[in-house]
Amino acid sequence: MPKVNLSERTIAYSEAGSGAPILFLHGYPLSRSLWDQQISSLSRNYHLIAPDLRGHGESDPGTGPNTMEAMAQDCAGLLDQLHIHQPLVLCGLSMGGYVGFAFYKLFKERLAGLILASTRAANDSPQARQNREQVIRTVQSEGPEPVIASMVGKLLSQNTQQHQPGILAQAVSIMHSGISTQTIISDQLGMLQREDFTPMLSSIDLPVMVIHGSEDQIVPIAEAQQVQAAIPGSRLVMIPGAAHLANLEEADLFNQAAATFLKTII
Ligand code: MLT
Repeated sequence: MPKVNLSERTIAYSEAGSGAPILFLHGYPLSRSLWDQQISSLSRNYHLIAPDLRGHGESDPGTGPNTMEAMAQDCAGLLDQLHIHQPLVLCGLSMGGYVGFAFYKLFKERLAGLILASTRAANDSPQARQNREQVIRTVQSEGPEPVIASMVGKLLSQNTQQHQPGILAQAVSIMHSGISTQTIISDQLGMLQREDFTPMLSSIDLPVMVIHGSEDQIVPIAEAQQVQAAIPGSRLVMIPGAAHLANLEEADLFNQAAATFLKTII
């Protein structure tokens, strides 16, 4: 698998296709394998790049919290090394969307559009902060297994868990290959300290598609509706019956929505 050496770490990535570039950023506690179905479908028309964010999959870990800005910097470093300087579309899912907002803030000129999947702009509520502190205590004492086990039930809809064993197995396998104790802690600390991107939304002047599963428990659809309402000219695509990993559960619907959106901009 290809890797680039940034100054302090190696970042692994998948790359496929040719044409206008699209950068895919996975969520927590996952890896670039999350995007396999998007890569096989959309690489017919586009140049797709999907990194493992620091500490995930085959990328080296960072030191301390995985801040959204540090992960956005890694992405910019990867693009530099791949000589991708033309504006691209960034598609980020959940934590990948938080990184997408940080990337917009730092490198707006590198973007032609955004796909915000299963994500939110707001930072953590007091309850969410307590939950993260609990996850950190659990992983410190018991390792990643209980954290992975408790995530599975939230990432996929009940229907998918009961009737789509292949998708369930894929999600579990992506989590196992994606994460370690250290990375769970670094991600949780990074997400705990992320800023509220809500005030930035009204100034985003790029084409934006917000895409969200109707059954998402991790980021309720109301949060996606707020993001879409605040970004001028953006559109919201709801994927009925899908939960947090809408791109895995309903890959065809997700890919069609992405292709329709991409055709309008690049
Ligand atoms: C994710 O799916 O990336 C995370 O669950 C997001 C979060 O914990 O806020």
